[in-house]
Amino acid sequence: MSQTDRALTTALAQAAATAGRAPSVHNTQPWRWRVLPDGLELRVVRDRQLTATDPEGRLLVLSCGAALHHARVALAAEGWRAGVERIPHADDPDLLARFTGLTQVGADPEAMHLVQCMRIRHTDRRPVSDEPIADSALDEITEAATADGIRLQLLDRGQVLQLATAASQADTVESEDPQLRAELAYWTGRAGDVGLPAAVLPEAPPQTTVPGRDFGRPGTLPVGSGHDQAAGYALLYGDEDEPVDWLRAGEALSAGWLTATRLGVSVVPLSGVVEVPGTRAALRGMLAGVGYPYLVLRMGLADPTHAGPPHTPRLGVDKVVDTSAVRGT
Ligand SMILES: Cc1cc2nc3c(=O)[nH]c(=O)nc-3n(C[C@H](O)[C@H](O)[C@H](O)COP(=O)(O)O)c2cc1C
Repeated sequence: MSQTDRALTTALAQAAATAGRAPSVHNTQPWRWRVLPDGLELRVVRDRQLTATDPEGRLLVLSCGAALHHARVALAAEGWRAGVERIPHADDPDLLARFTGLTQVGADPEAMHLVQCMRIRHTDRRPVSDEPIADSALDEITEAATADGIRLQLLDRGQVLQLATAASQADTVESEDPQLRAELAYWTGRAGDVGLPAAVLPEAPPQTTVPGRDFGRPGTLPVGSGHDQAAGYALLYGDEDEPVDWLRAGEALSAGWLTATRLGVSVVPLSGVVEVPGTRAALRGMLAGVGYPYLVLRMGLADPTHAGPPHTPRLGVDKVVDTSAVRGT
């Protein structure tokens, strides 16, 4: 194996490991990577799909899209340019992406900066501070989250109130369904390398304009007495509603969230409104029927006086990255 080939497989394995930091619904981390001598494959792990909450796999694939973007950025930071084929085989839909045609081009400084942001990005469910986000920051985040067929729309005051109604309806529907409740209970309050530990869940419902997800059990994260009046809400949406669009939406989510992190803006995804068909239709109405909603984001400046919740745990690299095809070569 030449030195360049060895450098390539090392960079691919590192990119796949770095992608493990990506956000995922309920921290399910539903991805698995396979390092090949000349490429990298991303597969969805159906065992960690929320089959009751997300039967179509929208949030499952969206989460994998966030990991795909993390890997793309990590490779660019290591100095590699790659082509990406998304869902390359119709008869193998679980193969979500493949990196091909890798060439060494020199490290991209912006990507290196975003890799630093991956290390500090996390979901902070406390109310945000009273200080509004600068328009220039919102513009940068919106631009970063715009990709082929995917856009991020900031909601105006009237739309935020409609969203608040939809979010509380979604919560009611989900809390009345025993299967959804059981699934949520399985993934929350866990001590392990997947799911949500009590330390990242609010100890009481925070005061927010749009209700956050009711996790069905109190956590241990102090929420303080603040109200996130200065928070901004945005809708991630796109032209189509197929798995490849959810994958791209996840990539856009990661791009927007990492940019937000660089700018000191906290992001909390709110997916309950998308999980419930009735409230997803209401969101579609807010887009005047011209697009398909994938995810709602709450954005705001994090409270600077507290460090916020700890990082949510992750699966070990050996559980998500398969290097058997390059081992010993
Ligand atoms: C598709 C998707 C949907 C999510 N939905 C919610 C949600 O409804 N409420 C919430 O508080 N967090 C939500 N999250 C955040 C995840 O719970 C979080 O990313 C995961 O637990 C990992 O933690 P971290 O972001 O701090 O690394 C969502 C994340 C993704 C990618």
